[in-house]
Amino acid sequence: MTAATVWINGRRAARLSALDRGLHYGDGLFETLACLKGRPRFLSLHLARLALGCARLRLSAPGPQRLRAAIEQAAAQADRSIVKLLVTRGPAVARGYAAGGEQGSWLVIRYPWPEEDPALALSGVRVRTAATRLGENPALAGLKHLNRLEQILARNEDSVIEAEETLMLSHSGKLISGTMSNVFLVHEAGGRLRLRTPDLALCGVAGVMRSVVLREAAQEGISASECALAPPDLDTAAEVFLTNARIGIWPVRSIDGRPLAPGPLTRALQGRLAPLLEAADA
Ligand SMILES: Cc1ncc(COP(=O)(O)O)c(C=O)c1O
Repeated sequence: MTAATVWINGRRAARLSALDRGLHYGDGLFETLACLKGRPRFLSLHLARLALGCARLRLSAPGPQRLRAAIEQAAAQADRSIVKLLVTRGPAVARGYAAGGEQGSWLVIRYPWPEEDPALALSGVRVRTAATRLGENPALAGLKHLNRLEQILARNEDSVIEAEETLMLSHSGKLISGTMSNVFLVHEAGGRLRLRTPDLALCGVAGVMRSVVLREAAQEGISASECALAPPDLDTAAEVFLTNARIGIWPVRSIDGRPLAPGPLTRALQGRLAPLLEAADA
């Protein structure tokens, strides 16, 4: 069992109702924050994404000050930890999908920082492509909502290919993301390296680290765009890397068994991100 510490609606001793719509329908959102030196990283970006998601799903959540304080308090009790924030529509007032009058629930859960081989960020990770595809739905696209069955199916597929992460395509065959990460491809055009990441208008999670990489690339004068990408783009990519709020950047060293070397743009972005990954709220 994972050693997790849980606060429900701001209290250690509280309980979550068995009627909570987060449990019944996945009616809620979550954030996973990396916390270093007792402080949450990219907290403002996480809270901003949560606020956008709440507005789109018409979920009510405690104000940002309250959430910020609760997350900071959870993080302060360990040097390095993972803090997960969940916001749900709360215990159902009536049975059925119709919502109305619910009081939202919110949970803060602190996990130990996972032990991980540092070689993953240096030498890179192996990825395979999932058979399970992502449904396309602009109403949910970009949100970090609680329905993660597609990722669970993909992550647990039987496969002979050994891989640390699994890439997912949408139903119409577009490359979208990893099961727990966003994906970036580097192509050479006219002697320059260009960075591209799938646009997430129809599915996928708009990752915090994805937004940081796009922001830093723009500041560094690196050509970067969000666009439609497909598996042939993986075949022609000079470099591929994955991002999430905890891992930062993982270079990809093989795709479905085909080797690929971590390249100069990936290394440059890893270097640019390194000080930000040490900071609390960059
Ligand atoms: C499906 C999916 N996509 C992308 C990401 C990356 O998001 P972030 O950079 O906010 O961690 C995650 C993170 O868990 C994820 O589960």
